[in-house]
Amino acid sequence: MDIKIAPSILSADFVRLADEVEEIRAGGADYVHVDVMDGLFVPNISIGIPVVKSLRKATDMFLDVHLMIDRPHRYVGKFCDAGADLVCFHVEADEPQDILAALDEIKAKGKKTALSVKPKTPGSVILPYLDRLDMVLVMTVEPGFGGQSFMADMLPKIRGIRALINEYKPSCELEVDGGIDDKTAPLVVDAGANVLVAGSAVFGRPDRAKAIEDIRMAAAI
Ligand code: DX5
Ligand code: ZN
Repeated sequence: MDIKIAPSILSADFVRLADEVEEIRAGGADYVHVDVMDGLFVPNISIGIPVVKSLRKATDMFLDVHLMIDRPHRYVGKFCDAGADLVCFHVEADEPQDILAALDEIKAKGKKTALSVKPKTPGSVILPYLDRLDMVLVMTVEPGFGGQSFMADMLPKIRGIRALINEYKPSCELEVDGGIDDKTAPLVVDAGANVLVAGSAVFGRPDRAKAIEDIRMAAAI
């Protein structure tokens, strides 16, 4: 399978964000993963629309925007307009009719859609939305913070969602986020993931290109 690496800028130095993104681009990263937190859906606050706008001006890389916010249907259009290439939000964060409307709005703006599931949420909840999705994101830590330990008990859920994707929407990508490094990458790829988010495993090391390469080599099982 074609594996994509999506470094999370949550662990980057925000003062020199454009340089950080250029380093991962030169290092062969596929997506820039942007973590948006509102202090309500998760117990942390990070960055938002203005930073996505600035990133859009600074790079032509694919911006994979992960919204960890309450009632995301209120904001998905604004993130599309700010320059996101893909907008991902949490299935736990909104009502079913608002989830459907938000996915349709993202599509109408010509952007890619994704839904994310927290560790305690069963993978089957994505089924009613799968025909509208370009990607599913399985959290392999509780969302909110970088640098947490990978939850190996998420591997069966990744396998289950991979089976659903293969049956109903083979073009849909399967992303994992949380505690991914060169040790855990082979486990998630074996379970069916094809997009690997890595925050501290990339930006926590001085040589980002080497960090990306190490994860890519480890994932090539
Ligand atoms: C956590 C975020 C992640 C985070 C991953 O809520 O969604 O994207 O940056 O960080 P690491 O790779 O350090 O677990
Ligand atoms: Zn994330």
